[in-house]
Amino acid sequence: MAKILITSGPTRQYLDPVRYLTNSSSGKMGVALCGAALDRGHRVVVVSGPVNVEYPAEAERIDVVTTDEMLEASRRAFADCDGLIGAAAPCDYRPRRVAEQKIAKTGQPLQLELEETVDIVATLGLAKRIDQWTVGFALETEDPRFRALAKLERKACDLIVLNGPQAMTSETNEIEILDRTGTVIAVAEGPKRRVADAILAEIDRRLVGRESRPS
Ligand code: C5P
Repeated sequence: MAKILITSGPTRQYLDPVRYLTNSSSGKMGVALCGAALDRGHRVVVVSGPVNVEYPAEAERIDVVTTDEMLEASRRAFADCDGLIGAAAPCDYRPRRVAEQKIAKTGQPLQLELEETVDIVATLGLAKRIDQWTVGFALETEDPRFRALAKLERKACDLIVLNGPQAMTSETNEIEILDRTGTVIAVAEGPKRRVADAILAEIDRRLVGRESRPS
């Protein structure tokens, strides 16, 4: 049995009190992963951005809004976890300046200057202990396996789940799981819960109870 941290859903980065940037993400894959992990006897902590889905009651749920909040909550929770599944779609950019009052329309174009937010999977992956593991997701539209492997390396993941853009907000998903050599170790398609079961089966087989060390 392991204690697993799952990040799920989108995050928001506000430009003024009412407007924000976000990502298209429903949290449905996170819900499916929570259910699959719990059914296999694992304990689950889910750090979730704003979503309209319900996580299983047995999962410990921590709600956040921004990418920085997701990072801080995940960092704290991960210290007490064996592994991370990064299923969230955190907003990658934030406005350099956040207006305190609602930005009034002027009839002119509005220019926003954006800076990158921190990558949560990379931050946790690069700092993980020898006994911890991390699994990331990659949503790619070109050279999918090549880009997914590059992402796995950059973020020091033990496994990466490759899915296509049709996965977003959908009830179904179609995935490949790649290991650190770039080998496709499993494929799955169908309802997100079936796909989540396949992902947890590989995690149990290859990561739970094993020492992992990024090579
Ligand atoms: O770089 P990209 O966003 O394509 O990588 C996707 C993976 O990285 C997912 O596992 C996602 O949860 C994670 N991620 C993250 N923090 C970010 C951006 C992405 O943890 N700021």
